[in-house]
Amino acid sequence: MSIKDCNNTADFRRLAKKRLPAPLFHYIDGGADDEVTLRRNTEAFDQVRLIPDALADLTGMDLSTNVLGQDIDWPVFCSPTAMTRLFHHEGELAVCKAAHEHGTMYSLSSLSTTSIEEVGAATPGPKCFQLYIHKDRGLSWDFIERCKAANYSAICLTVDTLVAGNREKDLYTGMVIPPKFTLKSLASFAMHPSWSFNYLLRRKFELANVAGQISEGTGKLTSVVGYMNSQFDRSITWKDAEEAIQRWGGPFAIKGVMSVEDARKAVDIGASAVMISNHGGRQLDGSTAPFDQLGPIVDAVGDQIEVIVDGGVRRGTHVLKALAMGAKACMIGRGYLYAVAAGGHAGVDRALTRLRDEIERDMILMGCSSLEELDRSKLHF
Ligand code: FNR
Ligand code: LAC
Repeated sequence: MSIKDCNNTADFRRLAKKRLPAPLFHYIDGGADDEVTLRRNTEAFDQVRLIPDALADLTGMDLSTNVLGQDIDWPVFCSPTAMTRLFHHEGELAVCKAAHEHGTMYSLSSLSTTSIEEVGAATPGPKCFQLYIHKDRGLSWDFIERCKAANYSAICLTVDTLVAGNREKDLYTGMVIPPKFTLKSLASFAMHPSWSFNYLLRRKFELANVAGQISEGTGKLTSVVGYMNSQFDRSITWKDAEEAIQRWGGPFAIKGVMSVEDARKAVDIGASAVMISNHGGRQLDGSTAPFDQLGPIVDAVGDQIEVIVDGGVRRGTHVLKALAMGAKACMIGRGYLYAVAAGGHAGVDRALTRLRDEIERDMILMGCSSLEELDRSKLHF
């Protein structure tokens, strides 16, 4: 199996599973507890059906939109995800370049393995930086200044991760950072020589934005959960979010909003967008799906703030359903992570090509030639 055999997210997932040692594959793939929410995220899309119109003159097609002040060619962009260089040595740069080549935005995680500056310089395309407020407040506010200097377009503050979710697969597989050849994981590393070879010989692992400032980012062995639980500031409130917005002074999203009440608070503190998200089912298991919350949040604040959604998006039709419900755009996480693990830049390039083609084909099949034509009359509940 090669990336040419991958036509959809499920195919890339299968190839990623072949290419990656178990601790890394399951870190991407897994959710919290019983993974009820992880499954629900995609199910929620699948339970709503589309109602197409016919004979609507579909010679032209405009998929472009504007999110967080950025024009993008189609309504999907990349969610921030941690430590991409662990899955493929081309890492964050591969995803960022592919996103730019496909006319869309890339989001860089606070916990990236390539720095704010290096990613900033990699493309002239739009970039969103994902902020985790660390206990070291100076370090956290410094991220914002670094993003200004590196020409980022927007910032999103993730608010659903004050404590790490219970990802039990990571416990079974012995997922630690930096990846370690322990008794538990050795067989899996030995069975993936190409990954292990690259890991050992290419650029050393580091959490590039905190390297030199936090010992866990510079090689001290920890677990991802251990890092999050020791470094993230649990005392943050809407006041801190407001301060972050003011310090940044540009397009700003709150990521991880699920309730109507919180969406209203995001409006009150002057955020430009809410990203409805449950962190891809990795945090609170048993939580509703982002798509379930989309309608109520759009109804409450859709005319005052941009509504972006992620979690469970695997198909072009999922994007159409979200937009018909009132979302401005969708983000994908695993949708590009499996692909980067499967084949670096070439993998992400193929995944984005396939997803965009799906969206365009689905729009024609729906009888729509621009995104504004998607509304709730096109959905059957
Ligand atoms: C994430 N996500 C995430 N979110 C964030 O704000 N900061 C981060 O560092 C990470 N890291 C991360 C790692 C991995 C491996 C995954 C799968 C996810 C959550 C991510 O931004 C997004 O909300 C979900 O991935 C969306 O769900 P799907 O598209 O993966 O179903
Ligand atoms: C995760 C963190 C890093 O989901 O956000 O693994």
